[in-house]
Amino acid sequence: MCHKGSGIGRACAIGLARDGAAGILIADMNLAAAEQVVAEAKAVAAAAPGVRIEAIRIDITQQPSVDEVTSYMVREFKRIDYCVNCAGIGVETPREIGDADVDEFNRFIRVHVQGTFLLTRAVSAAMKLQEAVKPVGPTSAGRGSSRGSIVILGSGSSFVATPSMVQYTTAKHAVIGLAKNAALDNAPHGVRVNCVCPSWAETPMIQRARDGGVDIDSYVNGMVPLGRIATAEEVADVSFPAPGLRKTVRHVTGHNAEGKGIFLSSDHGDHHRIIGNEQSVANILYSTKETPIDMANDVDVKYAAENEPGLHIHNGSVFRMIDFAPNVLSPMHRAVSLDYGIVLDGEFRLILDSGEERIMQQGDISINRASAHQWHNITGNGTLPGRMAWILLDCIPLTYNGETLKEELNELQPYYEGR
Ligand SMILES: NC(=O)c1ccc[n+]([C@@H]2O[C@H](COP(=O)([O-])OP(=O)(O)OC[C@H]3O[C@@H](n4cnc5c(N)ncnc54)[C@H](O)[C@@H]3O)[C@@H](O)[C@H]2O)c1
Repeated sequence: MCHKGSGIGRACAIGLARDGAAGILIADMNLAAAEQVVAEAKAVAAAAPGVRIEAIRIDITQQPSVDEVTSYMVREFKRIDYCVNCAGIGVETPREIGDADVDEFNRFIRVHVQGTFLLTRAVSAAMKLQEAVKPVGPTSAGRGSSRGSIVILGSGSSFVATPSMVQYTTAKHAVIGLAKNAALDNAPHGVRVNCVCPSWAETPMIQRARDGGVDIDSYVNGMVPLGRIATAEEVADVSFPAPGLRKTVRHVTGHNAEGKGIFLSSDHGDHHRIIGNEQSVANILYSTKETPIDMANDVDVKYAAENEPGLHIHNGSVFRMIDFAPNVLSPMHRAVSLDYGIVLDGEFRLILDSGEERIMQQGDISINRASAHQWHNITGNGTLPGRMAWILLDCIPLTYNGETLKEELNELQPYYEGR
């Protein structure tokens, strides 16, 4: 169930269709926009037989409308596994607090706060009644089963203020409180509630603000490290499988004609892949074909962009970051390399094949000298995602008792072989 037919909601609906959702109901006040999204979602889900995608009109500020749409979804689709609440309005007439319009303020409270409340209330009640049949992570029994998951769109404005936007800032601060309480109340029922808080994403809401005279582009360019507005698709992708971790920004430097340092690019890294039974995201931040590194004519930049490495590179180097879903335990594996590991976010257990182990906290470092090992993400007692980074340098083959140590990938083999 996806509330709304443009911008972020559209991107979520298309993403869900692409990921194989069996049924999607796109509910929006603007039925024509929702119907347009139905057509787009059907086009990407075309390969899946029997998938049902429909549009329906809803006004999230009206309780009868919200209750009716929720009942329709339960009746027709049999259950609601996911609800993305991304209906909303943006500021089109910015005004300082002293000149703020009272009706406009109340409208924002009605749509964002009352609307989110009514929808979360109705969907929570429906999810509580359905069977807890869906495993949270099909390959990670420790994560248990779920009756459903509700995602609410907060905003950067849930945390900070923007000049002349008191109605939006107030409403979005309230939304995050609402999400926290709903998460707390629903947890015993196996219903998860999360709040995604994007900064600025290119959607019709932003265009309307531009048209109304809000100088969003200068503001974004000054505030966002990437120096650009996000796409709606980037917001839709954010939650899986390690929600809550900020996208890392990578800056690559080079030289201008006078040999002075310049930034060549600012991005998120070259290669992202979901690995480890869909429980982790690997991000290759850089890799080099050899060491010492030939940087003439930026050949190394081209190599890093065009080649996704295996576990490590013979004679070269790899800078890898991995986001782990809660409680993930990696297979025992060995890279025949010197690995500098850093815990960037969370808490991990480093377990060696002898059975020895250590707990590592944020900022702790491991120097792994080709020992076979496992990583266990124990962040928040196994309830939160965690993030680590490693730099892997090639080493001279290492021999113990006459046997040369070999790379061991075990269940990780499919994710690295042939690269
Ligand atoms: N675009 C951004 O930069 C940005 C950033 C942070 C948070 N958000 C939040 O994300 C959500 C989606 O924003 P977007 O940029 O995709 O906006 P959008 O304008 O593209 O889409 C909003 C949709 O909500 C619908 N809607 C408005 N009032 C409604 C109501 N009462 N009942 C039902 N539907 C209603 C509209 O018809 C529209 O289709 C909003 O909550 C917004 O505050 C957006």
